[in-house]
Amino acid sequence: MIKSLRGMNDILEEDEYKRFTYFLKVASSVAEKYGFHYIETPLLEETSLFKRSVGESSDIVGKEMYQFIDKGENDVCLRPEGTAGVVRAFIQKKLDRAGGTHRFFYYGPMFRYERPQKGRLREFHQFGVESFGLESVYEDAAMIMMVADILNELGIGYRLQLNSLGDQNCMPQYRDNLVSFIESVEDKICEDCKRRKETNPIRVLDCKNEHCQALYENAPKLLNALCENCESDFNKLKNILDANNIAYEIDTNLVRGLDYYSKTAFEFVSDNIGSQSAIAGGGRYDRLVEFLDGRPTPAVGFAMGIERLMELIEMPQEKRSGYYLGAMDDEAVDLIITTTQKKRKSDKATCEYRARNLKAHLKNADKANARYCCIVGSNELENGTIWVKDLEEKREETVKLEDF
Ligand code: HAM
Repeated sequence: MIKSLRGMNDILEEDEYKRFTYFLKVASSVAEKYGFHYIETPLLEETSLFKRSVGESSDIVGKEMYQFIDKGENDVCLRPEGTAGVVRAFIQKKLDRAGGTHRFFYYGPMFRYERPQKGRLREFHQFGVESFGLESVYEDAAMIMMVADILNELGIGYRLQLNSLGDQNCMPQYRDNLVSFIESVEDKICEDCKRRKETNPIRVLDCKNEHCQALYENAPKLLNALCENCESDFNKLKNILDANNIAYEIDTNLVRGLDYYSKTAFEFVSDNIGSQSAIAGGGRYDRLVEFLDGRPTPAVGFAMGIERLMELIEMPQEKRSGYYLGAMDDEAVDLIITTTQKKRKSDKATCEYRARNLKAHLKNADKANARYCCIVGSNELENGTIWVKDLEEKREETVKLEDF
């Protein structure tokens, strides 16, 4: 038997697909309320897109890409995340030259060759948004409030972690200070951190090794190194969140796993899903459009991990809806099919293709969660009527077919 690949799941069981589609409905409608519209980009892109955006030093590009040479000798890659493709599309459509504000949301599968475990898949689904053209920290706050709105609507509790990664004015100096610090403890840190020191030093700050973490307690703190502009934006962001009752924790070691961020960085975590606790993450990436050969354009966004959220969603009580139609006589089957088709013009309607007895039809209607079980037997066929049972109100009546 052929099975799906390790870390790649079907979303097929009733409980799963209902949660999945319910999440998308809620998240899309919240994004639309914030003025975002849908964008779809290809799953496959040139590998260099991710190398230049997510960063050569990131684990994603270094170890986790589904990369291959296609039949035309192109070096291509299944997208490990959504931001790079949206930025590429934004530049390709010359929206960077058009100016103004452009806001997009998207959802779909992402691919990372990680070690699968609970909450960590090789093919997983993200819902994300990207906003271009606004330098204002109010837009950073809007991103955070949008995630909070989505989570609140889904009944999901969270903790919000917040940091600022500075910009090109303050980061280089901080990086130098951090490298000097790392060199002072270099003989005690793990091999990964030694590599990070060379490629992207601030990534040492979120090393998962406890021993390294203890050493970095004494490292220079990002938030103490911000320039005036970054500090004032960060303070403003905190004030906006306070004014809108969004609680947050400052985590000066939150550096995110992708290299394109500057200034605001945030993560939403859940305490109810085990070790892979990040349910959403994002931040500002003001240099990325420029890095990918576009006109300098400020940008900010986030993405949420749908599989992780599916475990946490509180589904609303599902009400019975629509019609189930069935025949008790072979002769009535054709009539059932045409009547069902007619009903579908305005309502949800399913039907059974074979004649069955009443008990079997009632059972099917119940299973389909239909509100009405509608039956035609030989009597109804003769009289041009249909028997209708309201399964919620427990009432039944026989109505003329033309009035049904
Ligand atoms: P990210 O933090 O790499 O950010 O991913 C966002 C979310 O995707 C995570 O918080 C997590 O819920 C989910 N996720 C990541 N990896 C896996 C996995 N292997 N299995 C299951 N879920 C996973 C980004 O991807 C950025 N593009 C977000 C962004 C958009 N920043 C700005 N704009």
